[in-house]
Amino acid sequence: MSKVSLTVNGKEITADVEDRTLLVHFLRDVADLTATNVGCETTSCGACTVLLDGESVKSCTVLAAQADGRQVTTLEGLASENGEMSAVQKAFHENHGLQCGFCTPGFVMAITSLLKENPSPTEAEVRAGLEGNICRCTGYHNIVQAALAAASSTSTASSTSAAEAGK
Ligand code: FES
Ligand code: FES
Repeated sequence: MSKVSLTVNGKEITADVEDRTLLVHFLRDVADLTATNVGCETTSCGACTVLLDGESVKSCTVLAAQADGRQVTTLEGLASENGEMSAVQKAFHENHGLQCGFCTPGFVMAITSLLKENPSPTEAEVRAGLEGNICRCTGYHNIVQAALAAASSTSTASSTSAAEAGK
């Protein structure tokens, strides 16, 4: 057993865990944050995607001990304090980017990371960026549309605030 201390969605969580405990199990079983799903546990499906120090990782391939002292963001941490959904969450809702929803937290986190690195991706770049995430229901079209809509809503919001700042 080792003591690990992670900051998850801004809150520090310290616990004794077995050395083999995966980050995804720490999040679900210790932190009680169950939006992050376990699908394949072999790095193939992306259902467990979270942000580790701002970068997307598959939390089934990271040990909780490897995340010791680091910042983790899960789907639960994306909304603002007043409960307003993030641009990516809103875009999924508005573009019907899900059916059963099992893959959705992973896609939302992967797209959040993708748009941080590339705020105005092409459709091809979105599709390439989501290659590590699998959806068994939607056929991907609406997920890609949601990513593009989130990109355009955040670029509109930042150009509006830049224009307002220049008033
Ligand atoms: S559960 Fe982690 S990639 Fe599938
Ligand atoms: S919405 Fe069902 S697996 Fe993606």
